[in-house]
Amino acid sequence: MSRFSKSVLILAFGFSALGASTATLAFDNYAGVGRQATPAEVKAWDIDVRPDFKGLPKGAGNVSRGNDLFEEKCASCHGSFGESNEVFTPLVGGTTKADIQNGRVGGFVTGDIPQRTTFTKVATISTVWDYIYRAMPWTEPKSLKPDEVYAILAYFLNLAEIVPADFELSDKNIADVQKLMPNRNGMTTDHGMWPGPSAAKGGMGNGGKPDVKNSACMKNCKKDVQVGSVLPDYARTAHGNLEEQNRSFGPVRGVRTVDAATAAPAK
Ligand code: HEC
Repeated sequence: MSRFSKSVLILAFGFSALGASTATLAFDNYAGVGRQATPAEVKAWDIDVRPDFKGLPKGAGNVSRGNDLFEEKCASCHGSFGESNEVFTPLVGGTTKADIQNGRVGGFVTGDIPQRTTFTKVATISTVWDYIYRAMPWTEPKSLKPDEVYAILAYFLNLAEIVPADFELSDKNIADVQKLMPNRNGMTTDHGMWPGPSAAKGGMGNGGKPDVKNSACMKNCKKDVQVGSVLPDYARTAHGNLEEQNRSFGPVRGVRTVDAATAAPAK
């Protein structure tokens, strides 16, 4: 072997060794802890359904099957018509025919909405599909088959008077139903740190600016800043006297809430 070809060989070896170490670098930091997830494991978690319906499993289910399933698996917590606010805000209610037409829940515009429900808030039907499929029933998440999710969602849509009682929801017609969602035009990006130009400049963001405006205090801050929390007067007895309900040891102590707030913040 000539000197020349030997040095080429060494060079080639050097490169491949470098390649290997880059590929495993991130993992080397956790030597001995866990292992790479397999493609099948990643696939099992990759169940999100996007607003453009990418990821939506095929299937179908009708209102009457959904009614039965809901009674059996959901009504104990959400009420027979999705109306209960015992466990969480009601699922259905608060939307009108005009909202379905406008794609914007009128109560949000006028400000006199008595209570938010899932169907007043949500803009994309894919979100409800995705949520039920991954998270409900609360006690048995990921136990529903796609056809069952379609059926339950068809039942909700009928309760909200978006589809008729003989309706069957499927992957084929879900995009059409999206066009009837009562708050489909209710999404806003004009808040938080949403990037892009503001509405004033023709965009939908706020230029990525935080909505909390303050200057950071970097030295001698103690005199200005008092860390603590106060319960406003109107909320003090909303849940009785917290002092009697929390343990007297450990990091969380009950604050006496039956008296009016004092000037000093509760510690
Ligand atoms: C054991 C009680 C329980 C059962 C049974 C149950 N849920 Fe829920 N559900 C909850 C709770 C609690 C939440 C709020 C969870 C949270 O915010 O983390 C919730 C939230 C939801 C939401 C989202 C509400 C919103 O506006 O954010 C939907 C939709 C929903 N449930 C549908 C269902 C469906 C469909 C079933 C039956 C297949 C079901 N639930 C069964 C307790 C339950």
